[in-house]
Amino acid sequence: MDEAVRTPNRQGGDTVMGTERNREPQTKILVVDDRRENLFAMEKTLRTLGCEVYTAESGNEALSYTLRHDFALLLLDVNMPEMDGFELAELLRMNEETKNIPIIFVTAINKEDKSVFKGYESGAVDYLFKPVDTDILLSKVKVFLELNMKKKELELIQAELERSNRSLQEFAQVVSHDLKNPLNVITGLCELMEAKHAEGLSPKGRQYLSHITSAAHRMTSLITDILSFSQANAEPGQLTEVDLNRVYEDVLADLDSRLQQTDGQVEKLAPLPVIEADPTQMYQLLLNLIGNAVKYHRPDTPPRVQVYSERTESDRRVAFVIEDNGIGMSPEDIPTIFTPFRRLDNAKGYEGTGLGLATVKGIVERHGGDIAVSSLPGVGTKFRVVLQARGGAEERE
Ligand SMILES: Nc1ncnc2c1ncn2[C@@H]1O[C@H](COP(=O)(O)OP(=O)(O)O)[C@@H](O)[C@H]1O
Ligand SMILES: [Mg+2]
Repeated sequence: MDEAVRTPNRQGGDTVMGTERNREPQTKILVVDDRRENLFAMEKTLRTLGCEVYTAESGNEALSYTLRHDFALLLLDVNMPEMDGFELAELLRMNEETKNIPIIFVTAINKEDKSVFKGYESGAVDYLFKPVDTDILLSKVKVFLELNMKKKELELIQAELERSNRSLQEFAQVVSHDLKNPLNVITGLCELMEAKHAEGLSPKGRQYLSHITSAAHRMTSLITDILSFSQANAEPGQLTEVDLNRVYEDVLADLDSRLQQTDGQVEKLAPLPVIEADPTQMYQLLLNLIGNAVKYHRPDTPPRVQVYSERTESDRRVAFVIEDNGIGMSPEDIPTIFTPFRRLDNAKGYEGTGLGLATVKGIVERHGGDIAVSSLPGVGTKFRVVLQARGGAEERE
């Protein structure tokens, strides 16, 4: 049988499903039946829907069509010689390309005896009983075509969203990078003024200068944090083996002056895992969590922070905890802390941008992990991070 069986409807735009929408010309239906007269009748009816109708007289012929065309729907005669409709459906389900094509089985089987269809209950499957009633045929097919159209629309929207997300991230990175240069000039000159020319200024002038300097520093941290945040929401870079113990040491070295100022202590109670991850993002993750644990200490109590790994239920996952004795948070506030720019009332008097935990969450999610918080005001806070173990990457979406 050559392509002559292909009988696309050439009537063009039409009225489908009671809407005045032009159905996409590429919407294709495949009808499979070993009897030509059935094919002919179905085709005639379906053409009124304005789609391209393809017909095949055997399972094998149908298979070769499905590999070459993108069908919105298959109408499958159950009772065919050689390969019957169920066998064909089974083969289609085994192939990645064809497994999601909706199927309507057409059968002469007794309506009461539905046991035959066991196993086909899941997925986009329906049944038509012979002799085929034209109205029922059309209404069932219309439902599937509408579903197919919605699915295509969703795919388009998703592709567009992903594209615009990517360009927003690139935009944020370029903008924050470019803002940093003039800002460095401002902070540099302010510091120079304070160091070398402060005597020439009036007390008011010195006060203004110090305000400018600290505002410029705040803006620098804001830009740094926005940059990290936008990177955390991009795909992780090259995944490599990361020893979290070494990352931990780097983070402690960077927090050293803060720890000295506050008489703080961070201790590791149990070795941290070695995982497969983006090393820069793991550094940002620990820096933010341990940094918060040190920063949000009670005014009269030096920060005591404990870091340790924990067992998980699956050996594909690792977990570690950062626990502090700080100011804590109210339970009702906890769900909001991962929102960008969100700072709780407890953060008054503590410097910050409200982007740290949003960045942490982005990093954890991009690595296929989870983060949980428990906290008591005036007692302390515990963050538990779960990540993929080495070799657990196949679980990652
Ligand atoms: N360890 C903690 N103890 C108490 N409150 C915390 C802790 N970590 C975070 N928070 C609260 O969550 C808010 C968001 O944290 P984060 O995103 O890191 O922003 P910030 O720049 O304010 O530190 C903080 O402003 C603070 O109110
Ligand atoms: Mg923070």
